[in-house]
Amino acid sequence: MPVQRTLFGRPIRLQTPPRRFQLLFVFIILFILTLLVFGPPTSADLPTYEQVTEAVKNPQLHLPDLPELPELPSVPNPFGPSAHKPPVQPNSTSSSAYRAIEWLSDFKWRNPFSSSITLDENRAVLPPLKERPSIYTFYDPKRKQDKTVSEAENRLLLTWRRAWWAQGFRPQVLSRAEAMKHPRYDLVQRMKLDAKVELEIMRWLAWGFMDGGVLANWLALPMAEYDNPMLGFLRRKEYPKLSRVESLHNGIFFGEGMAVNEAIRKAIDNELLKNVTANKQKIAELATKDGGAVVNLLSSADVTVDTKANAVAYYSTNTITTKYKTVAEKLTNMTQVEGLELLASLINSHLHLTFQETYSEGVAVVKPLPEHTTALTYEAIDIARNLTQCPGTPMPKSCPPNRPKCTPCNPNKPRKLQLLPSYKDLSGLYSISTVPHPYTLNSLHYTRDTLDANFLRKSAQRDLWIGALTKDMLGEQHSESWRVVAFKDEVAAPDSASHSLWLTAERVTQADLDWIFGFNLPQLASPNSEPSSPSDTSELIVFPRPGMPESIPGVDVPEERWIKNEEERLKKAREAIKSKDRRMQEIVDMVEKWNLADTEAWKFARAFSARRRRERKKWEEEEQKFAGSERKAGIRPGAGGGGRWTDRL
Ligand SMILES: *[C@@H]1O[C@H](CO)[C@@H](O)[C@H](O)[C@H]1NC(C)=O
Ligand SMILES: *[C@@H]1O[C@H](CO)[C@@H](O)[C@H](O)[C@H]1NC(C)=O
Ligand SMILES: *[C@@H]1O[C@H](CO)[C@@H](O)[C@H](O)[C@H]1NC(C)=O
Ligand SMILES: *[C@@H]1O[C@H](CO)[C@@H](O)[C@H](O)[C@H]1NC(C)=O
Repeated sequence: MPVQRTLFGRPIRLQTPPRRFQLLFVFIILFILTLLVFGPPTSADLPTYEQVTEAVKNPQLHLPDLPELPELPSVPNPFGPSAHKPPVQPNSTSSSAYRAIEWLSDFKWRNPFSSSITLDENRAVLPPLKERPSIYTFYDPKRKQDKTVSEAENRLLLTWRRAWWAQGFRPQVLSRAEAMKHPRYDLVQRMKLDAKVELEIMRWLAWGFMDGGVLANWLALPMAEYDNPMLGFLRRKEYPKLSRVESLHNGIFFGEGMAVNEAIRKAIDNELLKNVTANKQKIAELATKDGGAVVNLLSSADVTVDTKANAVAYYSTNTITTKYKTVAEKLTNMTQVEGLELLASLINSHLHLTFQETYSEGVAVVKPLPEHTTALTYEAIDIARNLTQCPGTPMPKSCPPNRPKCTPCNPNKPRKLQLLPSYKDLSGLYSISTVPHPYTLNSLHYTRDTLDANFLRKSAQRDLWIGALTKDMLGEQHSESWRVVAFKDEVAAPDSASHSLWLTAERVTQADLDWIFGFNLPQLASPNSEPSSPSDTSELIVFPRPGMPESIPGVDVPEERWIKNEEERLKKAREAIKSKDRRMQEIVDMVEKWNLADTEAWKFARAFSARRRRERKKWEEEEQKFAGSERKAGIRPGAGGGGRWTDRL
């Protein structure tokens, strides 16, 4: 039986044309295909279709001979199997003056060119968002509390939330409202317990209602590097045993919901609670014992004590009175607000110190093609200087409670701050860089106010930026697609993303820094080279700001007027990329096509940062009704860099 051929489901009859036409037909198709795929033949060394598809499918496969510009992936292959665009994920777009920022979260993100997955020129493929495990704290303000005290407490809660957020958690502040929803709330309520014991049981009830997870005191903050084993364990969201941490009293607990609720049941059934009046004394004592009231109503087998965990600093009343006397003195009831603010400054300084100790090699501002890109580094250097500055604190020599042997920041031995022409993948080094749009970069690098097709073809080298950026890390030999994948790994891979910050040159302000770092960058600096106080009455001590980093050896420092020109060009490039003018858009488009790898890096970095921002803002919106939100802490949402209140004293 003859084979029935179909086209779009309809049967067709093939009539074989004469032989000479067949040959001509094949030739024409081949010609069109070549044109479509490679554009007009300009260069002899373009990759073959197979080479590129192979490289795109399999980014781990190293193709040293893959020459520049795999222009192919974005061109749909008219003869291959047709593909649907993947559905647009909800909330995967963010508006921007420089066209919309769009992304797709997908496991295939390690592909060098996003458009081969999204079939969309503008949409970048990002790694799937890591699920953040919840961490809870319980906050129960005193009944008749002054508004200023509440606000100060809310700011501490905000510090707590920010620090845990930066470490990859979803910190939520619980209150009596959650405890009241627990089925055993009424029972506990009727017992007329001692206030401290009651509070501790309420904490557990709220935690039990949320079905377990991690419960921390709001003065227990993470102070360790991102890959600390304890934090890694908590992030894995599997807590085989209900546990607490040795020496942290009731600062932190973790366990599954079942175990938590079982523990609550047992604690409430304890004999002591059968007759509260008779056992008043004994019950009150429970609260002071190690682990807190609930733990001591249970048998010792019920709650495991973790002896190795060291990532959490707990500022318990006890710790504050013994270790941080300056703060403790102010925390009496007359100067409570001031005391709370000092405590917030102290905690912030310890978080910052932890960062500085984690990155013992200091901070690097990466400045590829350094000859004409000074104007691109202003933001990065501003951030880097503040990161290496000694944090403002009431107690400069103090250490976080979990690391009594820290090296306090010493303004006479400043942390290292350097400019590097190429990215170094070095543990202990924190890197900040600015990812420019290729139009911006070409305009600056070739010192041209405008770019055009002629110039690009004749003089511009392709993908300069990614080549220079990854030179140290990858050497000279690798293809652009390889470099892009390595770059994406540094920006977004879960194990390296915390070591660097990538800004985009076109965005003028950087927001969210304090949520990325988990602390406020110092906003005040001593006016001279000595530490000083912002005012006569303030207990806070601020330090001088580190100077500008030294220029890169072997690279001439441009004169002031040339730098002024760079600033002008940067402004013009921003205008060009934003431009609605058809002709301008065509040029920008051409520059992008000419620099596929640099464009991909730019799209990726800005989509990554837009998504991070989106995730954060959405969550702040969800939490704004609760204690510890920016709103409750008296901070205008979206204020540049978040709340800069710690330096107010
Ligand atoms: C998308 O954003 C809207 C408004 O911000 C929100 O209501 C909705 O839940 C979000 N959808 C997803 C899937 O995140
Ligand atoms: C509790 O103890 C007190 C004194 O020991 C006793 O008078 C009272 O009857 C007890 N109450 C109950 C309900 O057992
Ligand atoms: C301040 O503390 C003292 C004792 O420490 C106490 O008697 C007094 O009531 C407190 N005042 C306020 C306003 O809380
Ligand atoms: C860095 O500190 C200076 C004051 O010393 C401040 O003006 C600037 O805004 C700070 N930058 C950032 C990014 O925090």
